Amino acid sequence: MRHMDGSPAPRLFPPPDMTFQIIPMTPAHIAEAVRVQAQAFPEDLRESPEVFANRMERFGAYFRVVFMGDRMVGYMISFPWKLGDTPVNNETFPADLPEPDCFYIHDIAILPEARGAGISKAMLDDAYQTALRLGFDAVSLVAVGQSGNFWDNAGFVPYMQVGPQKLGRVLEIYGPGARLMALPI
Ligand SMILES: CC(C)(COP(=O)(O)OP(=O)(O)OC[C@H]1O[C@@H](n2cnc3c(N)ncnc32)[C@H](O)[C@@H]1OP(=O)(O)O)[C@@H](O)C(=O)NCCC(=O)NCCS
Repeated sequence: MRHMDGSPAPRLFPPPDMTFQIIPMTPAHIAEAVRVQAQAFPEDLRESPEVFANRMERFGAYFRVVFMGDRMVGYMISFPWKLGDTPVNNETFPADLPEPDCFYIHDIAILPEARGAGISKAMLDDAYQTALRLGFDAVSLVAVGQSGNFWDNAGFVPYMQVGPQKLGRVLEIYGPGARLMALPI
């Protein structure tokens, strides 16, 4: 096809296919999830494959990965947890964990080219459904680095029912600006 003036019309490419599928994470997904992590988080916030595996042993049933076609483009690490507590980043869990009373979102990571397609929204919905199924009435997390606006936007509010010692610990583990947040569901 040509324009009236004879110049070639720009080619119309089909829009990229952004359909995605969310499935449970298995140990076989860990290596690829670690590669996604490297594109989503700065080095000081990343966790090792060993820590992924340790978290998965305890709570893997709640972890998710997301695929576009046959390519993993994101993952979510989440588990039952004690409101007001936070896991230590890149450290295996202690043998004994307190009795959980909320669902905790530890990580959501999406490859840059797959963002804006509604994946995190779908993963959050998945987490809220799990939380309700487990009988919890809150979802909690620590907002780190640049992600604060994202969690504000999703309706999370700062969780303040903890003493200065625990809040200090959140900052110590996750760096300046980290905020303990919760969403009643
Ligand atoms: C934050 C992140 C998970 C969002 O993923 P996404 O697939 O683009 O999210 P969605 O397309 O589902 O968008 C959901 C909503 O969040 C908003 N949003 C996305 N990224 C945002 C950001 N950085 N700040 C504020 N809002 C944001 C979208 O505009 C959308 O809003 P709407 O519902 O009002 O339209 C992704 O950018 C990412 O992996 N970032 C790096 C890792 C990270 O910071 N993870 C979160 C902390 S664990």
